Amino acid sequence: MPESITITDNRSGQAVEIPILNGGVAAADFSKLMPGVWFYDPALMSTAACESAITYLDGEQGVLRYRGYPIEQLAENSNYLEVAYLLLNGELPNAAEYDEWCHDITYHTFIHENVRKRFLEGFHYDAHPMGMLVSAVAALSTFYLDAKDIFDPAVLHKQVVRLIAKMPTLAAAAHRFSVGMPFVYPDNTLDFSANFLSMMWKVAEPRFEPDPVLSKALDVLFILHADHEQNCGTTAMRTVASSHADPYSATAAAAAALYGPRHGGANEAVIKMLTEIGSIENVEPFVKSVKEGHGRLQGFGHRVYKSYDPRARIIKRTADEVFAVTGKNPLLDIALKLEEIALSDEYFTSRKLYPNVDFYSGLIYQAMGFPMEMFTVLFAIPRTAGWLAHFKELLEQDLKITRPRQLYIGADERSFIPIQER
Ligand code: CMC
Repeated sequence: MPESITITDNRSGQAVEIPILNGGVAAADFSKLMPGVWFYDPALMSTAACESAITYLDGEQGVLRYRGYPIEQLAENSNYLEVAYLLLNGELPNAAEYDEWCHDITYHTFIHENVRKRFLEGFHYDAHPMGMLVSAVAALSTFYLDAKDIFDPAVLHKQVVRLIAKMPTLAAAAHRFSVGMPFVYPDNTLDFSANFLSMMWKVAEPRFEPDPVLSKALDVLFILHADHEQNCGTTAMRTVASSHADPYSATAAAAAALYGPRHGGANEAVIKMLTEIGSIENVEPFVKSVKEGHGRLQGFGHRVYKSYDPRARIIKRTADEVFAVTGKNPLLDIALKLEEIALSDEYFTSRKLYPNVDFYSGLIYQAMGFPMEMFTVLFAIPRTAGWLAHFKELLEQDLKITRPRQLYIGADERSFIPIQER
C-alpha cells in the first residue's frame, strides 16, 4: 500500500500524488504542484503546523507524555525543575546536570529593581495580575539586550534560565501589588515551588515555611501544566519565534494567548460557574440550561481530548491531599455532582465532553488561598518551560517565518469616493 494520497482537480483533470509523512500530507509540496489551490483550515483544526519531539498526546486514549515519559510517572516521581530540564533538553538530567540546573535557576530568581519599581509599581492599583505578568515579561527584553542573540546557544540558555527563574518572582510581585502588600524577595534556600509560596504569602515572619504538602501539590500542578503541544499559547510562541523575536517578547505573546477564558482562563471560569450554581440542588437545572444552549460547562471539553483528560485524573487525587491540609473547598461537592451528572448524560457523552485540566485545578488553588485572578498566572509559570522548549526546537529546525494564506472574501476593486460625496 503506497504511503501517499492522490488529489484530482476535477476542473482540469490534473491529479497529483503527495506522500504521507508521519500521518500527515505535506501541504507545501501539494501547493507547488497545484499553485493557487489552498487548504482552508480556520483554527488549524486539521493542520499539523510543525514536527515536534517534545510532547506526545493521544486525545482518544487520554495519553500525555513529555519526551516519551508518561505524565503519571513524572507527576509521581519527578519535580517541576527536572521536568523543565527534560522538556528543554530531551533527556532527564543526571545528578550533576540536575544540581547545576537547579543552582542556575535558583540564582536567577531576583528581578532587576527597576522591573519592580518602574513597571510593576507603575500599574493601576486594581490591575489584573495576568495583564501585569504579560507586560512585565515583555519588558524584560529591554533589560537583557543580549537576548536578541538567539542563535548563540550559551546566550539563549541564559535567557531560558532567567525566564523560568523569574516567572514566579514576577507572578508573586503582581499579586502583592494588587493587594497592597510589600514585595517579598526570593528565598534561595527554598525549592522552586516553596519559594513561590514564600513570595506570595510571607508577612512579618523572618522566614516563611510553606506546608510541604501544599508546595508538593503546587509542584505537581506545575508538572501537569508544563507543556501541552500545539495549543493556542504554544502556537503563538512558535509563530512569534519564527520571526526570530527574542524569547521574552515571544513568551509574552504566548502568555497573552493563555490569558483568554477559552484557554488558561478556564479554571477561573469554573470557580465562577460553581459559585453561581451555589448548591447541589441547582446542578441539574444548570446542566439542563447548558444543554438548551445557555453557556457552556466550564472545565469540560477539549479540542484534542475526547476522553478523560489524564491531567484531570491526577489533579483530582492532588485535590484530596490539599483538602486534607486546607479543609475541603465547599465548591467540591457541587463539582463532583456536576461531573457525575454530565458523565451520565447523553448530551455530554455523545460529544465526548469530559472534565479537562481546569475543572479541578481552580478548586485546589482556591483552597490554597490564591485569588481567582492568579489562576492563569499559575498556569503561565510552568508553561514557560514548554514554551521555551518549543522556541528552542523551532530554531533548531530552521523553519521559515509563519505566514499562512487567506481566502479573500471582500469587495472587488472599487474607486475611492471623497468624503464629501459619501
Ligand atoms: N459545555 C457544553 N457544551 C460544549 C462544551 C462545554 N464545555 N464544549 C463543547 N461543547 C459542545 C458544543 O456546543 C458543540 O456542540 P454542537 O456540536 O451541538 O454544536 C460541541 O460540543 C463541539 O464544541 P466545539 O466548540 O466545536 O469544540 P471545540 O473543540 O472548538 O472547543 C473548547 C474546545 C475547550 C474551547 C470547548 O470545549 C469549551 O469551550 N470548553 C469550556 C472552556 C474550557 O474548559 N476550556 C479549557 C480547555 S483545557 C485548557 C487548555 O488546555 O488550554
